[in-house]
Amino acid sequence: MYHYETDRILLRPWRESDAETLFKYASDPEVGPRAGWPPHKSVEESLQIIRTIFSGEGMWAVVWKETDEAIGCVGYLPSTSSNLKIESDQAEVGYWIARPYWGMGICTEALRLVIDYCFGVKGFSTLWGTYFPSNPASGRVMEKCGFVDTGRETVCPNLEVGSDQPVRVMKMTRNLQIINQTCRTSQTSQTCRTK
Ligand SMILES: CC(C)(COP(=O)(O)OP(=O)(O)OC[C@H]1O[C@@H](n2cnc3c(N)ncnc32)[C@H](O)[C@@H]1OP(=O)(O)O)[C@@H](O)C(=O)NCCC(=O)NCCS
Repeated sequence: MYHYETDRILLRPWRESDAETLFKYASDPEVGPRAGWPPHKSVEESLQIIRTIFSGEGMWAVVWKETDEAIGCVGYLPSTSSNLKIESDQAEVGYWIARPYWGMGICTEALRLVIDYCFGVKGFSTLWGTYFPSNPASGRVMEKCGFVDTGRETVCPNLEVGSDQPVRVMKMTRNLQIINQTCRTSQTSQTCRTK
C-alpha cells in the first residue's frame, strides 16, 4: 500500500476550490516559463486548467499540510501525452513548486513519491524528465531523486514557452530506483513510505 504523503506534504487530486490558490502561485512569471507554460492570467483560467490538464492521469496537487494549501503540482505524463518519443511502458515526470517554498527540498520529496508510484503501482520500466539548462535547480531535483543525465538535448515543439530552446534529457530506470531506495533507507529516515 502506498502513502502519498510525508511529514510535510501530501499529494492529492486537484480540486476546483484550489483555483484561487493556483492562480496566486501560477501567475508568478518566474514559475511557468521555466517549465514551458505561460503564467496564468486569471482565476478563471486556473479553474479551466484544473478542469482539463490537471484532471488528467497522474497529476497531483502538492499540499503543504500545515496550511492545507496547494503549493505546487507534480506528476507524470504517459507516453501518449509525453513531450518525448517514449515507449508505452514509460512516462515523463513534471513538477513545479510555488516560489515562496523553493529551496526547502519540497519538490524532491514530492517527486520521490511520484517515482515510487510510477514504478511500484503503474509498473513503468523507465521514467524520463527534461529541463532547460538555464534552470539547473530542476536538473538538481531529478539528480537528487536518482535520475541520470543522458547527455542528450532536444527541443519539445509541444511546449507553449521555450519550444525553440533545447531541453536536457534525464532518465531513471526501475532497477536504478531500487538501488536508490536501498541507499536512502540505510542513510536516513525516509520520507517516502512504501509497505
Ligand atoms: C525547480 C523547482 C521545481 C525546484 O523546487 P524546490 O522545491 O525548490 O526543489 P528542492 O528544494 O527539492 O531542490 C532544489 C535543488 O536545486 C538547487 N538549486 C537551486 N538553484 C540552483 C541553481 N541556480 N543551480 C544549481 N542548483 C540549484 C538547490 O540548492 C537544491 O539542491 P540541494 O538540495 O542539493 O541544495 C522550483 O524551483 C520550480 O518550481 N521552478 C519553476 C518551475 C520549474 O522549473 N519546473 C520544472 C520544469 S522542468
